[in-house]
Amino acid sequence: MKNCIEVKNLTKEYKSLKAIDDLSFEVKEGEIVGLLGPNGSGKTTTINCILSLLNFGKGTIKIFGTKMSPNAYDIKKEIGVVFQDVAVFEELNVYDNIDYFCGLYIKDKKVRKKYIEDAIKLIGLEDFKKFYPKQLSGGLLRRLNIACGIAHKPKLIFLDEPTVAVDPQSRNNILEGIKTLRELGATIVYTTHYMEEVEILCDRVIILDKGKLLASGTTDELKALANIEEKVSLEVYDLEAKYIEKMKELKNVEDITYNNNVLVITYKKGKNNLIELMDYLKSAHIKYNKIFSERPTLNDVFLELTGKELRDS
Ligand SMILES: Nc1ncnc2c1ncn2[C@@H]1O[C@H](COP(=O)(O)OP(=O)(O)OP(=O)(O)O)[C@@H](O)[C@H]1O
Ligand SMILES: [Mg+2]
Repeated sequence: MKNCIEVKNLTKEYKSLKAIDDLSFEVKEGEIVGLLGPNGSGKTTTINCILSLLNFGKGTIKIFGTKMSPNAYDIKKEIGVVFQDVAVFEELNVYDNIDYFCGLYIKDKKVRKKYIEDAIKLIGLEDFKKFYPKQLSGGLLRRLNIACGIAHKPKLIFLDEPTVAVDPQSRNNILEGIKTLRELGATIVYTTHYMEEVEILCDRVIILDKGKLLASGTTDELKALANIEEKVSLEVYDLEAKYIEKMKELKNVEDITYNNNVLVITYKKGKNNLIELMDYLKSAHIKYNKIFSERPTLNDVFLELTGKELRDS
């Protein structure tokens, strides 16, 4: 697969702050790549540098194999951007807003009409064509923002936190819309700090923190980086500390927490952990409910890499 984006040794400073610090990565044609990182980690700055909206100190950026520059209009017309902050015209209704943005690229009226209808359908705005932005909920407004950014059918799409503070229905709509865009052949860069979205959507993930690349790979590859193999959770009432101490001695156990009657046991690599735990619980006559085992999440990986929770930072 060809590279759609190549970022090499990108460094961007604001006075003494290194917002991006020697960042290198590639995005292949047809992929959805997630830029995942806490607030202030440099996601938006990275996008703005790629788009040549910002000057940067060091590094090179290529899009479709060509060096990107502020005047690279041939490249720019193949790009769609959905900015983090909603940017639509209050004076125009939904249809006319999309028409305006699409019209910057598509001059043929008949073609444009079809493209606008396609965008409206993709993001589920059929019932709101005549609505003005003020009349839309936060989620619908975000969907309009997306329709405006992608209606001209760009080959490369940047979406900067498109699901922040949207209702579950709009979130679903947006995630489904993005999947459809990929199926239609677009390459997508998606920034978020919601790990669940990255797990559902992205072929590859780049984890940023303080402008640096901490790790990259498929979600499975990233999970393999985690020191832990398995987490087992169960509900146990009034468990005495002496039993917890005993369980810490079971094979492969890495850590145990017990809060609000939920016991969570994390295991290093190893097999049959769950069976051995259940055997122990039975022998010690400990009653339990709702036992389940899960693999480490991206949040666990992030926690190990940075020592902090992605969501809370
Ligand atoms: N114009 C600016 N002047 C000075 N510092 C800036 C400017 N823009 C961004 N920064 C700083 O650069 C760093 C990276 O910011 P950026 O907006 O790229 O992060 P982000 O990952 O997009 O965060 P968020 O999740 O909040 O959108 C932050 O420390 C931010 O405060
Ligand atoms: Mg941002």
